[in-house]
Amino acid sequence: MTMTAESEMKSVAGAPVAAAPAAEPILKVSNIESYYGPIMAIRGVSLEVPRGSIVTVLGANGAGKTTILKTISGVLDPLKGTVEFEGKQIQRLDPDRIVRLGLGHVPEGREVFPFLTVRENLMMGAYIRTDRAGIAKDLERIYGYFPRLKERLDQPAGHLSGGEQQMLAISRALMNRPRLLLLDEPSLGLSPILVKEIFGIIRRVNAEEGVSMLLVEQNARMALETAHHGYVLEVGRIVMADTCERLRESKDIQEFYLGARDHGERGERRWKRKKTWR
Ligand SMILES: Nc1ncnc2c1ncn2[C@@H]1O[C@H](COP(=O)(O)OP(=O)(O)OP(=O)(O)O)[C@@H](O)[C@H]1O
Ligand SMILES: [Mg+2]
Repeated sequence: MTMTAESEMKSVAGAPVAAAPAAEPILKVSNIESYYGPIMAIRGVSLEVPRGSIVTVLGANGAGKTTILKTISGVLDPLKGTVEFEGKQIQRLDPDRIVRLGLGHVPEGREVFPFLTVRENLMMGAYIRTDRAGIAKDLERIYGYFPRLKERLDQPAGHLSGGEQQMLAISRALMNRPRLLLLDEPSLGLSPILVKEIFGIIRRVNAEEGVSMLLVEQNARMALETAHHGYVLEVGRIVMADTCERLRESKDIQEFYLGARDHGERGERRWKRKKTWR
C-alpha cells in the first residue's frame, strides 16, 4: 500500500492515519436537478457507482428513476449539478458523445427497432465501431449469453417476445463494449422465470467482463439480490443508501419494498438517517 506524503507526515506526528482513499468511482453524480418544463423531477440527487460493481436505485412509479438515467446518458440536461464518468464531467454532452465514451443506456420499454431484424439491431449497437473482427467476436460473445437471439437473427425485432426484446436491447448496448451500463427496469412486464434469466445474465456480464452497472428497478427483491449497493429514491430524492445486504435487512425496505407488511405495518415511512457504505 502506498501512503501519501500527508498521511506519512500524520503518522510520524502520532496522529491517526487516514484510511487509504477508495478508488475513484466510475460514475459520480453530484446534486443533480432535472426538470420537465416547470416540473422538478429529481431534486439534488447524488450517487456513486464504484468501478466493477452493480448499484441499484429503487423507487416506486414516478419516483424519478428514469429521469436519473436520462440525465446521466445526456438525453436530459440537468439544471444543476454534475455527472462525472471516469473523472470527466459529462453533463450537457450529447448522448452520442456519451455513448462513445463507453457509457451505454438500455432505456425503459426496450425501444428496439421493430422493423429491423435482430442482426440489424445488433449492428446498430456497433455503429461507432469499424473493427470487423472485433464486432464478429462480440456477436459470438452475445450469442453465448442469449442463444435465443442467434436463432432469430433474421426475424424482425418486432416479432420477438417482450423478454427477447429485452435481451436484444441489452445485447445492442453491449455491442459498444461499454464500461458502464445503465439499465432501466429490465424486469418490466416479464414473467418471473425470464426476470431470473435476465438478472442472471446481468450478473454474469458484470462478473465475467467487469462491466459496471447502474440498475433502476421497481422489482426490489431481484435488484437487491443482484446489486452490491443500493439507493432508495422517493419523490425525486435519495432517502437511503447502503449495501444491498443491509438494505435487505432494513425494516423499512421489507415493509415498503419487499411487501413484508405482516412484520408490523407502521403506516408511514420513518427512514433512518441516510447512511453510506463508506
Ligand atoms: N416527459 C415528461 N413530461 C413531464 N413530466 C414527466 C415526463 N417524464 C416524467 N415526468 C414526471 O417526472 C417524474 C419522474 O418520472 P420518471 O419517469 O423519472 O419516474 P420513474 O421512477 O422512472 O417511474 P416509473 O417506475 O413509472 O418508470 C414523475 O412525476 C413524472 O410524472
Ligand atoms: Mg421509469
